[in-house]
Amino acid sequence: MHLYLDSAVPEEVEKMAALGIIDGVTTNPTLATKAGATYKEAVQKILSLVEDNVSLEVLSTDSQSMIREGQDLAKLSDKVIVKLPTTADGLKALRALSTSGIRTNMTLVFSANQALLVAKLGAYIVSPFVGRLDDIGQTGIDVIGEIRRIYDNYNFQTKILFASVRSPLHVKQAALLGADIATCPYDVLEKLVKHPLTDVGLKKFLDDFGASGQDPLV
Ligand code: E4P
Repeated sequence: MHLYLDSAVPEEVEKMAALGIIDGVTTNPTLATKAGATYKEAVQKILSLVEDNVSLEVLSTDSQSMIREGQDLAKLSDKVIVKLPTTADGLKALRALSTSGIRTNMTLVFSANQALLVAKLGAYIVSPFVGRLDDIGQTGIDVIGEIRRIYDNYNFQTKILFASVRSPLHVKQAALLGADIATCPYDVLEKLVKHPLTDVGLKKFLDDFGASGQDPLV
């Protein structure tokens, strides 16, 4: 399963890229406001930090403008995946952009039926927002399981991206349910690395060895 960082902050991307655990980055207009420098500069920096898979979202809402904006975003780099909202206009733009070979990430997906439509129209990625479904008292992960089953039934190649991740548990659920990608906030990726028993265990190993008086091997 691929892991993406859900952030427009270059410093966060740099740290996670240095760890080698991220395969891409997702941004959205809200995250863009937290980019630190200007959003433009932040995106250029992020594009230089990762090998591939940087989702950049359009700000237009009518299909013709979305198509133009998507084409311009795609020209920034081969690494760009154009993020489109899953509205009727977004579907029209998806069709046009995917026909011309531009990779798309269909965002704000909340149902299996929306995911079925975007797969039929050639989306590269579908982004169901699990955390936001949980927020309104639904079981967000059910949608991931449903989409996985539908895509496997019909051999759709659209990648399922578990979005709106709120915790390490979500990441485990994404992997267990067969999502292709999970996009995580910086703090969730940090929590994936750490386990208190790892720290306690390492301290004991080193204390025991130090107390033994043995020489290190090298
Ligand atoms: C995904 O691409 C979105 O940017 C993101 O996962 C949204 O998460 P949120 O619901 O925590 O804002």
